[in-house]
Amino acid sequence: MRDHIVFYVNGVRRAVDIDAAQQTLSEFLRSSQHPHSERLTGTKIACAEGDCGACTVLVGKPTADGKAIAYQSVDACIAFVFQMDGRHVVSVEGLRASGGLSALQTAMVDGHGSQCGFCTPGFVMALHGLAEEAGTLPTSLDDEEVRIGLSGNLCRCTGYLQILQAATSLRPDAIASMSQLFDESQMLSDFAKLGGEAVVMESSDGKVVAVPRSLSDLIRFRTEMSSARLVAGATDLGVQRNHGLFEPVEVISTCEIPELQTIAVDGDELVVGAAATWQEFDEFICDRLPEYHQILLRFGSPQVRHMGTLAGNLANASPIADSIPFHFVTETVIEVESTRGPRRIPIADFYKGYKQIDLAADEVITRVRTPLPPPDVAVKLYKMSKRRDMDISTVTAAFWLQLDGETVADARVAVGGVGPVVLRLSQAEQSLAGGQFTLDSLQAAGAIARSEVTPISDVRGSAGYRLQLVENLFAKCYYDLSASLSVAVS
Ligand SMILES: Cc1cc2nc3c(=O)[nH]c(=O)nc-3n(C[C@H](O)[C@H](O)[C@H](O)COP(=O)(O)OP(=O)(O)OC[C@H]3O[C@@H](n4cnc5c(N)ncnc54)[C@H](O)[C@@H]3O)c2cc1C
Ligand code: FES
Ligand code: FES
Repeated sequence: MRDHIVFYVNGVRRAVDIDAAQQTLSEFLRSSQHPHSERLTGTKIACAEGDCGACTVLVGKPTADGKAIAYQSVDACIAFVFQMDGRHVVSVEGLRASGGLSALQTAMVDGHGSQCGFCTPGFVMALHGLAEEAGTLPTSLDDEEVRIGLSGNLCRCTGYLQILQAATSLRPDAIASMSQLFDESQMLSDFAKLGGEAVVMESSDGKVVAVPRSLSDLIRFRTEMSSARLVAGATDLGVQRNHGLFEPVEVISTCEIPELQTIAVDGDELVVGAAATWQEFDEFICDRLPEYHQILLRFGSPQVRHMGTLAGNLANASPIADSIPFHFVTETVIEVESTRGPRRIPIADFYKGYKQIDLAADEVITRVRTPLPPPDVAVKLYKMSKRRDMDISTVTAAFWLQLDGETVADARVAVGGVGPVVLRLSQAEQSLAGGQFTLDSLQAAGAIARSEVTPISDVRGSAGYRLQLVENLFAKCYYDLSASLSVAVS
């Protein structure tokens, strides 16, 4: 058992105790980390809630075979230092290892991609992250790839055109990779030696951070520390911490457990481990569930998807969580475990009220089991928000329609953002089941749906607007499915 966290910052080894481990990564980088180390203030903090990307850094993790380090962009303002054990963190200052400005930084200067410069380190690091993922592509990234890759970065003065042009002016193989800038062999052998050892850090005033590395250790820690908070990607908890709603006084990290990082198809079920990130999930499902993939393109930003998890989204229990309606219509089952054994909970029973879930203090979510829609089922998902990218949904919806020719054999509809929990609309479903797949039948079901929801007015929309959205989504579903199924629009 280790009592400290070990990670590298710009190629330099750091071994830190609990006080540093409980900081956010941006606080750690910007503060004086060591008597002889510089403050890495190129990592900016603007929103402190993952919304602007000014704090973007690269976080590298050894690949499964331990032979290389794979880097992804992360918002340092909502990541905790204890999540960095066994990682290589590269801040914008790390790019100096290229001997001056990196090729990307030069392209930004030459292309006038920076005015006040406050957002620039974040853009540069996000672009380096894209280049890392693209690897040795001999062609430039296209506008759309760069636009999606930068959807988590805001610039308030330059305008995006120059930044996009600077980014697309370079081929990824013309940009120095992190493995070219840093000697990774030393880090990899250090990480290998640290290996599968759990970390438990305690302070004299009762603070505890535990980073288990096996499911059995996680379950044991959960029982021994029943008041501790589980932390997966921290994309919800990091924001709560910066808003003063959560202090990482007693925490158990779930993100280092190999058993919980797997994603697989088991029979006709998709089985997702509780520590698999949204990025890993998306790569696995993009061809199997293209409709879900479209939602994930608009789920937060790459930085958020590189850390956040499905389990965290389900456990956070927001009624506007974008994943939940799909899991309601597919009748997903949530697997939880404790020292008392495993338990399976149908998702409809998991939510007990606003932000209340059926999870005992000694239990953890281990896996999420989702029946894959059979071939005769058409699925449509909707994330209705004021802005296309990086916005919180006003209403979310999922339609699951089993079609026999032009007859709806069975129908399932779930909506979020219209009550304290996501709801299945049983009366609307009944009105659809057994009927014809026509605009009239969908519109009639939409009118019924209005009576099944109880939205409130808030900053994202009035109750009346939400009611109308729910009703209209039924007609939209008809038009969208008609187009893809080639059913004549009546
Ligand atoms: C900028 C930004 C944009 C976002 N955009 C979206 C969006 O478009 N759509 C959307 O739905 N959400 C969005 N979110 C919210 C967040 O990213 C998601 O809810 C994410 O899936 C949370 O996962 P996590 O692993 O980061 O959870 P964490 O923050 O680590 O944890 C969230 C909750 O889950 C609990 N938990 C985690 N793992 C387990 C487990 N194994 N067992 C039991 N409990 C557990 C934690 O204790 C905590 O209560 C956004 C967040 C940010 C910061
Ligand atoms: S400071 Fe805005 S995302 Fe971190
Ligand atoms: S250059 Fe000023 S915010 Fe982007």
